[in-house]
Amino acid sequence: MDPRSEVLLRQAELFQGSLLLAGLPADDLLGRLPGAVGWSWHAGEQQLLNKRFSGRCSFGVAPPPGEYVAAVLFLPKSRELTDYVLQALAAQLAGRPLYLVGEKRAGVERAAKQLASLGRARKLDSARHCQLWQGEIEQTPAVPDLDALAHQFTLELDDGPLQVISLPGVFSHGRLDVGSALLLEHLDNLPSGRVLDFGCGAGVIGATLKRRYPQSELVLLDVDAFAVESSRRTLAANGLEAEVIAGDGIDAAPRQLAAIISNPPFHQGVHTNYHASETLIERAAEHLSSGGELRLVANAFLRYPPLIEQHLGACQTVVERNGFRIYRAICS
Ligand SMILES: C[S@@+](CC[C@H](N)C(=O)[O-])C[C@H]1O[C@@H](n2cnc3c(N)ncnc32)[C@H](O)[C@@H]1O
Repeated sequence: MDPRSEVLLRQAELFQGSLLLAGLPADDLLGRLPGAVGWSWHAGEQQLLNKRFSGRCSFGVAPPPGEYVAAVLFLPKSRELTDYVLQALAAQLAGRPLYLVGEKRAGVERAAKQLASLGRARKLDSARHCQLWQGEIEQTPAVPDLDALAHQFTLELDDGPLQVISLPGVFSHGRLDVGSALLLEHLDNLPSGRVLDFGCGAGVIGATLKRRYPQSELVLLDVDAFAVESSRRTLAANGLEAEVIAGDGIDAAPRQLAAIISNPPFHQGVHTNYHASETLIERAAEHLSSGGELRLVANAFLRYPPLIEQHLGACQTVVERNGFRIYRAICS
């Protein structure tokens, strides 16, 4: 059981009836709170929860509509996303409580101040390195407008400007990451066909690829609903078409790909997590056609080359700059 769920269950009497659990972990909490439903923006966790608790967890960028007696927010990793989700939940909760639970080191005290801007907030419990806060929504805020919260910026690329739209909580929100910038400069000589942007974020790489290789079929994949929605908006803003998939890890990607291009993830919230990137490298060959290419940008300190050599074959370092490297390997 996630420690945040354990903290909730210390006062289970508060969480009976039709409760909405937002950003909940993929643990047994829905089993312990039979009246509750979940809202997740993580495709993998939502899938796990729905396997165990059929139909009780929705996925997307907005809370499932309904009459809830209360809602609990499990602290998300970004401040902007916390603001958006708190407001989206509060808009459905006139006069009813909105709880917030999170790890101290993830910034729950800072988020409690955000909660306090919506109504009176008080700390109910502190245990397992987590805190539980309760807010009373005094004045129901308007449903937040995601369009207004989106950051829009323009990248001046060699082949013209690219509009990028990024929603709260999306990687490198509102700016271009250094690693992604390096990758954008090294997208030449890719095989054409079906090409995957793995961990697409706001869709910068996938949209650039579609524009540079219009004859290729682009697939953009991300685990996060806000990233998926951002990518759709980025593609539309540039008049580009591609398939956008919400899925967890390379297993969710199609096969017979001509290339997989990625600035792969290695951070998740306050915890470092290499799982998705390592699995990508280990299983890339299953998703690439013979002669297909894996091209990655990564921090130079990450020891990906031995893993790439083990699972795909010779790993070439295309360039190294500002602590980032681009690797490429061809599937035999
Ligand atoms: C380093 S960011 C790169 C984003 C984007 N490609 C760019 O260059 O700006 C990695 C992305 O991988 C996504 N991600 C994390 N874990 C994932 C997983 N298990 N499956 C798919 N995508 C994942 C994150 O949501 C994030 O958008």
